[in-house]
Amino acid sequence: MFTFFKTSKPRLIDLINKEYVDIHSHILPGIDDGPKNIFESDNLISNMLDIGFNSLIATPHTISGVWNNTPETIKDSFSKLKFSLKKNSKIKVASEYLLDNFFYENISKKNFLCLKDNYLLVELSYYQPPVNLFEILFELQVNGYIPVLAHPERYNYYFDDMSKIEKLKKAGCYLQLNLLSVVGYYGVNVLNMARKLINSNLIDFVGSDIHNTRQLKYFDKRVLLKNVKILEKVINLNQKFQN
Ligand SMILES: [Fe+2]
Repeated sequence: MFTFFKTSKPRLIDLINKEYVDIHSHILPGIDDGPKNIFESDNLISNMLDIGFNSLIATPHTISGVWNNTPETIKDSFSKLKFSLKKNSKIKVASEYLLDNFFYENISKKNFLCLKDNYLLVELSYYQPPVNLFEILFELQVNGYIPVLAHPERYNYYFDDMSKIEKLKKAGCYLQLNLLSVVGYYGVNVLNMARKLINSNLIDFVGSDIHNTRQLKYFDKRVLLKNVKILEKVINLNQKFQN
């Protein structure tokens, strides 16, 4: 009986359907901690298409002082890549923006690449959130953007206090879970946080946050959730980002 329960869980790859749009990926060459060159990018994208992703949004990091990307550097990297791609794929470009003071001071310039319409993918430092986090979120929305917070389950300063994440939702943040979190890729604490967020219906979208082909192997792992239905529902919500 126990064996049946264990093996009846779907693999992550089984949950990826044709309509799935991956809204978080590091697949462009040479501009962040994703692929180093066009060859690696092409190989990574080709492998993603093989596991069933047919629509991708590339979201390289924009982090002042670390990955000083701009819409121009991102579009330039993509234009170099797209003529080398061996397989047909639907790829759009956006970015994953770190919420810090540099970002805050530049909001009014409105020089951002959105996932779609005014949905903007944002992330927090893994060490601590910015002291003016709620000011940043407010200013972003005043300027017409809708923040989509990447991987809320990965910030360990929220592990013991779900109310802080509920507060982010109340402040207008949509929440994007990383798919690899539910197969244990980031460890048990992140898995547990992912479970809590999914079971509390706090997750709005998912993303792969893929950086390399090694991570793709985890799509063959079984989903470590008791109830996979909520995750399946959320995966379907990503269709919002189709063209
Ligand atoms: Fe990311």
